Amino acid sequence: MNTKWIQTLSAALALCLPLAAQADPRQDEAMLKLASASGCLSCHGIDAPKPGPDGLPPVGPTWADVAAQYAGKPGAADFLTRVVLEGSNPYSSHWKGKVSGLAMPPNAVAITERDARSLVHWILAMKR
Ligand code: HEC
Repeated sequence: MNTKWIQTLSAALALCLPLAAQADPRQDEAMLKLASASGCLSCHGIDAPKPGPDGLPPVGPTWADVAAQYAGKPGAADFLTRVVLEGSNPYSSHWKGKVSGLAMPPNAVAITERDARSLVHWILAMKR
């Protein structure tokens, strides 16, 4: 599937239909597909925590929690794009005690910087 084409198309649609900009990000099929194809959804839930193995807390934070945590913080999108590409530091977890994953592995093998950035913007829009 050509995701670039889908992105271009959705960008064009968003320009034509100002209402599309206010659509619920959770309904964005193209972004859901990108997140799933990039492996993100094996560790992250969107609203409902994805249960960890053997009754442990979820592996990673839900994206609604990430959006709430970083809401209004300047530079959050740039910062989180780096974390997604390079992975997080197990010695300074940002979600200590809330998740069972010790750290997020680097995703740069699975995703381009551009796609990582679009995912992060999408995640940050999920604040309730
Ligand atoms: C192998 C499991 C795993 C995969 C795959 C994964 N993550 Fe994570 N992610 C985690 C864990 C664990 C954390 C919590 C890191 C911490 O404690 O600082 C996390 C944290 C995050 C955060 C918040 C970072 C912070 O510093 O607060 C974002 C945003 C995120 N992930 C997005 C993504 C995206 C986008 C993808 C797909 C490209 C992805 N994750 C794939 C496990 C994963």
